[in-house]
Amino acid sequence: MNSPAFQGLPLNPPAFVKNAKLIAWVADMVALLQPDAVHWCDGSDEEYNTLCQKLVDAGIFIRLNQTKRPNSYLAWSDPSDVARVEDRTFICSKSQLDAGPTNNWVDPVQMRATLNPLFKGSMRGRTLYVVPFSMGPLGSPIAHIGVELSDSPYVAVNMKLMTRMGKAVYDVLGSDGGYVPCVHTVGAPLEPGQKDSRWPCNQTKYIVHYPETREIWSFGSGYGGNALLGKKCFALRIASNMGRDEGWLAEHMLILGVTNPEGRKYHVAAAFPSACGKTNFAMLIPPKGFEGWKVTTIGDDIAWIKPGQDGRLYAINPEAGYFGVAPGTNALTNPNCMASLDKDVIFTNVALTDDGDVWWEGLGDPPAHAIDWQGKDWTPALAKETGAKAAHPNARFTVAAVNNPAIDPAWDDPKGVAIDAFIFGGRRSNTVPLVTEARNWVDGVYMAATMASETTAAIIGAQGVVRRDPFAMLPFTGYHMSDYFQHWLNIGEKIAKTGAVQPRFYTTNWFRKGEDGKFIWPGYGENMRVLKWMIDRIEGKAQGIEHPAGNSPSFEEITWTGLNFGADQFKSVTAIHKSEWQAELKMHDELFTQLAHHLPPALVQAKQTLSQKVNAQA
Ligand code: OXD
Ligand code: MN
Repeated sequence: MNSPAFQGLPLNPPAFVKNAKLIAWVADMVALLQPDAVHWCDGSDEEYNTLCQKLVDAGIFIRLNQTKRPNSYLAWSDPSDVARVEDRTFICSKSQLDAGPTNNWVDPVQMRATLNPLFKGSMRGRTLYVVPFSMGPLGSPIAHIGVELSDSPYVAVNMKLMTRMGKAVYDVLGSDGGYVPCVHTVGAPLEPGQKDSRWPCNQTKYIVHYPETREIWSFGSGYGGNALLGKKCFALRIASNMGRDEGWLAEHMLILGVTNPEGRKYHVAAAFPSACGKTNFAMLIPPKGFEGWKVTTIGDDIAWIKPGQDGRLYAINPEAGYFGVAPGTNALTNPNCMASLDKDVIFTNVALTDDGDVWWEGLGDPPAHAIDWQGKDWTPALAKETGAKAAHPNARFTVAAVNNPAIDPAWDDPKGVAIDAFIFGGRRSNTVPLVTEARNWVDGVYMAATMASETTAAIIGAQGVVRRDPFAMLPFTGYHMSDYFQHWLNIGEKIAKTGAVQPRFYTTNWFRKGEDGKFIWPGYGENMRVLKWMIDRIEGKAQGIEHPAGNSPSFEEITWTGLNFGADQFKSVTAIHKSEWQAELKMHDELFTQLAHHLPPALVQAKQTLSQKVNAQA
């Protein structure tokens, strides 16, 4: 039964919405979700400001000090809704085999039967926002359109910063264009007169993808990757399915441009697991000793990569903003990011200072007093005594990409940029060297397929646990992981056939620890030294040293100007220890056993060769 509020609710699509299929779908969804009102987003600044004001009035947003942080806001989520919920994320392909052993799977018929009663009436007492967005430059042949229906104004304003959102999307969609339908509810309907909570959400959560019909349904969470459906749900899980079917790649990768003093420019796409410094690497400022080098940002989290006419791989950033981790970000670790955050930012789950600004662990000197992300008093003394954090470890900022002073001039180019190298970087305290170049494409796919990382606060669950995270895509590949490996091998073969030069593959590990438990490698801007070695390899200027896993730099091949890092330290971040690698290979075996179905024989062969080389080591 429809509620009285819904009966007769006028849809009133604005004149610029000409797509009959879309209007019919919204009508169907209104009938199911039963909101009190429908708001068709036009993406204008006026709309953004009005919605932000509405969020302030509702107590969901705090307007920050307009002098210190103009046009910026702070939201605090419910303490139970602070990160992606991987155990509640489902790939509901018709066949379980297509989802593979690394995804949660439920039969789509059964899942629809479960979700239907949950979604029914879930928007009562709320406004349904129709949020049209383009992933990728508007009208680019690489871009795709989505429409998110959400009862969260927080989602609507975040989508304005994170995507190309608004009226222009309807122009691209025209009267009969297709789109990915995304339905999102916080799952907290309001009865007449019921007071809303500050961060409505539901203890029951479902983040559901139907790959065959390219649909996304998200219930119960208002947070980040669970709710901003253009990001992980569309641009990775659904897009990886599109890419498999259409011959392209949707990857959890930053994209950067690096220009050397001679003016030669290269493009690198790098996959790191969540909260492992992707934004820092994408915005890197070359340190002392690297005068004349320049790094520019195309994207900080996701890359869509398609083969071009010339056989090379071209990448775009499907997003238009950054949803980055705040803790640990400061003027030393990421000056470009700090400059991006000067104005026009939505912060989530950081602390509020007494002068109306924000603070998080790692930003710099702590304030004498602040209100923490749970709205409680916080002082440095309390933190010392109880370990209380002012900001949640997964606290975030949302900011438009154009705020970044290091933005690449081609970041919005519909053609994308030609990729010269892929980097895969896990967080490992031991075993994996600072940098390794793969011998060839197949070995590179093997290295990426077997990469692992210690888990971080970006997901709910235990932290610091080593888990295999193939291609940094474990939570994001929307189909069987072995088929995904095969897809990568196929792309490599396709490039080889055109005669174009294949991008090189590197693995990095910035996170090896010494006996004192501290990181040995200084990281951040100093990673430029490693990036330069990669460029030197591409230009044929560095020989490297061959070892069982590939090729790594000699101490002399790294430019050390401006950094005091001795040969012994270098050895401790690059040494290959036979026993560690033998243990590592056992874990590769476990992964390959789990992924045995359709596992590409070329990878099994690559493993055998690696085992032989490791065992032959003195
Ligand atoms: C992200 C993530 O938010 O990977 O980018 O979790
Ligand atoms: Mn990410």
